[in-house]
Amino acid sequence: MAFSRAILFALPVLVTALVNAGEPPVIQGVHEGDDAVLVGRVLLSELNCTACHAGGIPSKGAPELGQAKSRIHPAYLEAFIADPHGTKPGTTMPNLLGHLPMEERAAAARALSHFIRSLDGPDFETATIQPEAVARGRNLYHKVGCAACHDPEGKSLPDSSPLIGMADKYSPTSLTAFLENPLAVRRGGRMPDLRLTHWEAADLAHYLLRDQKPKANPPHDPAQAGKGRILFNQLGCAQCHQPGEPKTGFAMPLTALAPAKSCPTADFALSPLPRSQLTAARKVLDVPVDPATDLQLSLIRLNCVACHERDGRGGPAAARDPFFTTSNLNLGEQARIPPALDGVGAKLLPQWLLKVLVSGASVRPYMDTRMPKFGPGNVEELPPLFGQLDSLPPAPMRRIQDEKVAREAGGDLVGDKKLGCVACHTFNGESATTLAAVEMTTLTERLQENWFHLYLRNPQQFHPTTIMPSFWPGGKAVRPEVLDGDPAHQIDAIWQFLSRGREARTPSGIRREPIEYGPGSGEAVMLRRQYQGIGKRGIGVGYPSGINLSFDAAQMRLGSLWKGDFGEMSGVWRGQGSGNVGERSRDVVRFPVGPAFAQLESLETPWPVLEQAQKAPGFQFQGYTLDNRQRPTFLYRFDGLEISDQWVDQPDGPSLVRTLQLSQASPEQLYFRLAADPELKAGVAANTFLLPRGLILKPHFAGMLRPAGENTELLVPLEGRSSLVIEYTFHHE
Ligand code: HEC
Ligand code: HEC
Ligand code: HEC
Ligand code: HEC
Ligand code: HEC
Repeated sequence: MAFSRAILFALPVLVTALVNAGEPPVIQGVHEGDDAVLVGRVLLSELNCTACHAGGIPSKGAPELGQAKSRIHPAYLEAFIADPHGTKPGTTMPNLLGHLPMEERAAAARALSHFIRSLDGPDFETATIQPEAVARGRNLYHKVGCAACHDPEGKSLPDSSPLIGMADKYSPTSLTAFLENPLAVRRGGRMPDLRLTHWEAADLAHYLLRDQKPKANPPHDPAQAGKGRILFNQLGCAQCHQPGEPKTGFAMPLTALAPAKSCPTADFALSPLPRSQLTAARKVLDVPVDPATDLQLSLIRLNCVACHERDGRGGPAAARDPFFTTSNLNLGEQARIPPALDGVGAKLLPQWLLKVLVSGASVRPYMDTRMPKFGPGNVEELPPLFGQLDSLPPAPMRRIQDEKVAREAGGDLVGDKKLGCVACHTFNGESATTLAAVEMTTLTERLQENWFHLYLRNPQQFHPTTIMPSFWPGGKAVRPEVLDGDPAHQIDAIWQFLSRGREARTPSGIRREPIEYGPGSGEAVMLRRQYQGIGKRGIGVGYPSGINLSFDAAQMRLGSLWKGDFGEMSGVWRGQGSGNVGERSRDVVRFPVGPAFAQLESLETPWPVLEQAQKAPGFQFQGYTLDNRQRPTFLYRFDGLEISDQWVDQPDGPSLVRTLQLSQASPEQLYFRLAADPELKAGVAANTFLLPRGLILKPHFAGMLRPAGENTELLVPLEGRSSLVIEYTFHHE
């Protein structure tokens, strides 16, 4: 357990009648010795004082409670409301029940929790923790940036945002959903969106909940909800939380507060130091904030300073530095540590800057830490502020009027025969060596032209330790034969060449072979990604025998089958973002959207309809196991049935045998849908069915065809059986 987790350092906590036991709130990004007014301004927003006391300082806000009943275990909900500081030491949620008589507090917390449980959303649902997911999640957590703001495992750092009690609070399902889109719940962006795929979020959730023991849900008492609703508004919960109706004038404005007093209503477990800082800030509220301070406040509030340095402040703290890693040690420290933000307003074009902040646009695939997304509302004001504050002297620039001449020369300079930029940089995702520094075809979309000129003339001036060489040392070109050796013209030529973006011709030296991730070692490979026709919960499997499948873990169905190469993976390996994996072969057979199993009243009942990527109701994906050749068995649950779904390739050609095992005999009228396609028809051999592109399906017991709109559907009635074997074979040409 951490002691004095907050900014408050080792100062003793003054225990007064109003101050509860519990640790003071953690406010990240400020340090001992910082200007009291600065810290005070940060505290006023981070503690949401201005949600109740009007004062012209933006408050960070609080989690949306509309769907909280699906997210939070009911017992935790009640415990947290009753005693926020005891339940989650370091939290910024105030205790509002402290001034109630002792015996009323528990009842109020109970009523409030039942009110929250009466709001929208499915009930809290638990799931089992999977050890393999825990291991993957542990690795991710210490790699993508979580440890920049939260404790690395086994350490307890004073300025970590606490993740205490997670196993009592979330379920793997609800935490996965939160991590996939934290900004939907916490709009203030203090917990930013790390651009996780669904699978990454799930792995992290299992890791954070690794010690969880499943617990029953205490019953919901709707009779309490009405009382809770009244309290929610009366006590001031609605000032910070949605769904609520915040009242203006709930409390006096900040400027009218008596300076030295503490808040009798909202108890934050604050100790004397921050109180004095709050007081200092309150006193200067009428003084306008200059742009530099304004920007500094934003970088602190959003904790950009956890990863980035600017003006000598911030950057990875020593204890967190080991968790900033790279996949390419050859590129130096710049490949590992997020770029400093000094001068970034004079470096990046404003529209790119916005793209970085809003969408986490990324150009350094070798950097393991991710630039998070903060939500447009929280960062829109930053690009103009950076622009206003940062400037550079104008570079000597001279435009070559003849575009064609410029591009020819620029392309030559970039290639390996002249300056050899491609020896280190990727160009359209490819490079001459394995170095693979910043992508070149997006440089002109990102960078200000003036910065480009200044940087190329003297990279060390920007990063003293960079391995990026200087090609015009002392203003003299190392390639005097190009464009008369004029540095301004040579740099302009490179700029004009790169301005063509992806259309620019491939410079000399680039290796043209695309990266293929073809299985070849005798083991299957798996890639959990977004696949065409499926959405985010896709799992692709490539088999060494040259057959591949995509499985949809939202609907427990086969998504597609194809033979040949597994896929064009280069886009996936080179970028961090999501995006579709393109199956490489044109011979892809797609299977219909919708659940794989359904109970039909009669054979006239149409198959249930689902949207693409919509979770199939009643189904729960439970993960998978791998055999000694890495071939998967998917595990899922449907209406009390545990189903295992194994996919094994055959040595003699592109063929798969699929074995479904049910934990008990199937219920009446349960059907399995194998395929639906306009061209589906029965084959000549008994119980075989033909799909386009030479794919043959052979269930080991009777399948039946029926018309379904434009399609023909192939159904297998399970009729009390508990296993089902199906062969999928591509016919040899
Ligand atoms: C949930 C709403 C709420 C929040 C959040 C809140 N307060 Fe208060 N505060 C009140 C109410 C209500 C009073 C009672 C006096 C009034 O009506 O203004 C009060 C009174 C005070 C007083 C005493 C005023 C006096 O002159 O007697 C101070 C000082 C104060 N608050 C400071 C703060 C600070 C600092 C914060 C943030 C750390 C804060 N408050 C957060 C609601 C709130
Ligand atoms: C820039 C700092 C930052 C980064 C990076 C970050 N977090 Fe957070 N996280 C926070 C803050 C601050 C909060 C509390 C937000 C609030 O008060 O609303 C939080 C809240 C959370 C919560 C909710 C805690 C609760 O009590 O419900 C979880 C879970 C979480 N983070 C997990 C992660 C994981 C996993 C990662 C990495 C993928 C991560 N965070 C990356 C700052 C960060
Ligand atoms: C001054 C603003 C403020 C007020 C007033 C406030 N809260 Fe909160 N609340 C927060 C913040 C900030 C968090 C996030 C804390 C954290 O993650 O550590 C939070 C978290 C919560 C959570 C957990 C939500 C989640 O998704 O993790 C619940 C439940 C909650 N508050 C209920 C209440 C209730 C009930 C009241 C009224 C008694 C109340 N809050 C009053 C700021 C406030
Ligand atoms: C968890 C660590 C982390 C946090 C927190 C973070 N960043 Fe970043 N940031 C990165 C990484 C990593 C990159 C490099 C991404 C890439 O290009 O692949 C980056 C890139 C950037 C860039 C592009 C710089 C350039 O020269 O290309 C800007 C601008 C930026 N971040 C601003 C911010 C701001 C502003 C905040 C706070 C609102 C912030 N970042 C918070 C990790 C972080
Ligand atoms: C020896 C390897 C090497 C060569 C050759 C090289 N670079 Fe670089 N370059 C780098 C590295 C590494 C970085 C990242 C440096 C950093 O972030 O500090 C970089 C950074 C840059 C940047 C700044 C990118 C950004 O967004 O921060 C530009 C522009 C650039 N190089 C252009 C070029 C051009 C044009 C050439 C050829 C004329 C070239 N480089 C040749 C290694 C090289």
